[in-house]
Amino acid sequence: MEPIPVFKQRRIILGVTGGIAAYKAADLASKLTQAGAQVDVVMTAAATRFVAPLTFHALTGRPVWTDLWTPVPETAIPHVTLGEAAELVVIAPATADFIAKMAHGLADDLLSALCLSTRAPILIAPAMDVGMWANPVTRENVERLRARGVEVAGPAYGRMASGLEGWGRMIEPAELIGHIRRILGRKGPLAGHRVVVTAGPTYEPIDPVRFIGNRSSGKQGFALAQAALDRGAEVVLITGPVALETPVGARRIDVGTAAEMAEAVWRECGEADVLLMAAAVADYRPARMQPLKIKKGAALTLELVATVDILEGVAARRVERGKPRVVVGFAAETGDLVENARAKLQAKGLDLIVANDVTEPGAGFAVETNRVTLIDAQGRVEPLPLMSKAAVAEAILDRVVDLLQEKG
Ligand code: CTP
Repeated sequence: MEPIPVFKQRRIILGVTGGIAAYKAADLASKLTQAGAQVDVVMTAAATRFVAPLTFHALTGRPVWTDLWTPVPETAIPHVTLGEAAELVVIAPATADFIAKMAHGLADDLLSALCLSTRAPILIAPAMDVGMWANPVTRENVERLRARGVEVAGPAYGRMASGLEGWGRMIEPAELIGHIRRILGRKGPLAGHRVVVTAGPTYEPIDPVRFIGNRSSGKQGFALAQAALDRGAEVVLITGPVALETPVGARRIDVGTAAEMAEAVWRECGEADVLLMAAAVADYRPARMQPLKIKKGAALTLELVATVDILEGVAARRVERGKPRVVVGFAAETGDLVENARAKLQAKGLDLIVANDVTEPGAGFAVETNRVTLIDAQGRVEPLPLMSKAAVAEAILDRVVDLLQEKG
């Protein structure tokens, strides 16, 4: 995992309680640390039966706390000082027993005492046997915590260590990280702003089984959605057919054709502050969709017609309503990058265009990296180096925040 700005030097307490999913907490601690967070692990006695404190110490490079009573030189009262410094307390896994303790305000070990005294938000990832999760006592305890503002992520459905199947598995660290980002980001510079992101290709049907599409994976658009969430935005992600997990917190709308995407974009943009139009929309579609599968035979000529230009429609609506305030387009080029992109920026009435030369190695479709040039309506041209699509998304969102500010 590469460093992620929303985690940079953020102080997270990772509370680990005694369930078999504690081994997944080691992965979580490692990923959060790599992402740039300062992770202090607090374990219950039961948790140390599953994973050694040394494991967390090695992964986080920080002391691991296990005991309310051991005097330590740095702080006289760890449950208070740790909890005060924290920006977020994550309990993963949270056993039925620990949830019950939290729900009733017990404080007989370091982690429960810390949960009682901290003013930081608390996120729990329940993990327990099917029967324990289904038990009305646990449900009541969880509801009680929710009502007090504790956030609950999961559990997931699946196979248990016992061999039983059902609800009770801890959600995977990757998904939990999505919840953590949502909480850490919610006071960010886009808090209170609605951001619409489009991603992926569109599929234009030829007959019931065939379509015209393109190689877009949706990765850059999904990374933009995540970067907007990290800055506190309310995110609507309108996507063509892709094989990607929805970033936690985004409202996802799946579409197929350019016409469907246009309708969704125009509807959602009515109340949006920002549109990030990263989708690789088809420029042509078959003039007619054949109702039955086309049989093989002699040469076949398909008649194509132009699809609707979504950004042009946005520009027209923007004149009427003034929304979205910032519109960002993308230009996939195979030559004359800056000239072509600048022409598109003007023709489509954009505030910023993200241009990339898809013939360059490491840039464009279906790879993890991208090399883009940002060009804005004031004529500023900023070529960025080859970097991950996540880093490209961060750079674009930083520019969007600036553009919103410039517009007042
Ligand atoms: N776009 C759109 N509606 C379309 C086609 C493209 O809104 N029917 C958007 C894309 O999402 C992108 C921008 O327009 O943000 C530029 O897309 P691109 O395909 O590079 O440019 P085109 O205008 O289609 O021009 P050309 O294909 O000739 O380069």
